[in-house]
Amino acid sequence: MKIEQVLETYDEAYAEAYNQKFLTDIHSQTKTASELQILTELLREKGSTVRWLDVACGTGYYLSCFPEVQRAGLDISQAMLNIAKIKNPNIPLIQGNFRDKSLINKGEWDVISSMWWAYSFAESISEIELLIENISDWLTDDGVCFMPICEPSKNLYSDPTKVPYVAFEDAPAYGGKILVTGVMWSWIQPNGKRHDNMLVPQIEYMIELFKKHFQTVESIEYAKGFYWGILAAKNARQFESIRTQLMKESQSIADGSDRIPTDIPPVDTANFLQRLIRKLFRR
Ligand SMILES: C[S@@+](CC[C@H](N)C(=O)[O-])C[C@H]1O[C@@H](n2cnc3c(N)ncnc32)[C@H](O)[C@@H]1O
Repeated sequence: MKIEQVLETYDEAYAEAYNQKFLTDIHSQTKTASELQILTELLREKGSTVRWLDVACGTGYYLSCFPEVQRAGLDISQAMLNIAKIKNPNIPLIQGNFRDKSLINKGEWDVISSMWWAYSFAESISEIELLIENISDWLTDDGVCFMPICEPSKNLYSDPTKVPYVAFEDAPAYGGKILVTGVMWSWIQPNGKRHDNMLVPQIEYMIELFKKHFQTVESIEYAKGFYWGILAAKNARQFESIRTQLMKESQSIADGSDRIPTDIPPVDTANFLQRLIRKLFRR
């Protein structure tokens, strides 16, 4: 997506409505709750002096849920940052492009997150690689990164047929290996707002990109298996405690004792895009 379009789409009105539409709404609340749980665990294990940077922080919703933590946000949209400032009045909120390494000091952060597929706003795979390299650079030597990632078969077109990553180990005719490294998609909203050419590398490929800069790279599924994320650490470790937390979460969802507010009807599918696409196909 071009920067001009990001700024045009993420304007004042979009920023005002954003949290209610994309984070606390009925389609996203299970996802948001799981992500908060993952962040809680990552921050907790680093102790009370933890320093956390949220890249493409948008309205600063996630940052605002941890007021006791030393934290900062970075985003290209001043309109989104203006909303972030209201709930996070005393923290650094940096306006800039996540492709720009010089915006953040090297080795300063223990935890870096980048939520709601913000990486997919990059215009090329090279730019996504640069973002991952920047995150690695901005982290301490034992820093960790959490990046929720889009899985097209679940989050875009809701069909069990996944686009294969390895199309051919030995291609017919010309030989050689063929990899389908990513998927590009656009979202044209009913109000005319656009997300054109969002870039989603396949999960396997994202893991390979992360492995260039991180010793530990794991993928996790959460929110009833509708969502995926990458957990990466600069050092060698495991993310066992987070998996245990998520298991407890699915257990509590199964026995109905999870912390999603009970006055809201149960969510049958966790993604607004899936509903939108289904609605369009029915026409
Ligand atoms: C889908 S929103 C996600 C916001 C926030 N992470 C959340 O989960 O609520 C995408 C955000 O990425 C920001 N963004 C897009 N491209 C960016 C870039 N190149 N550098 C920094 N921020 C960017 C947009 O301004 C927007 O706030």
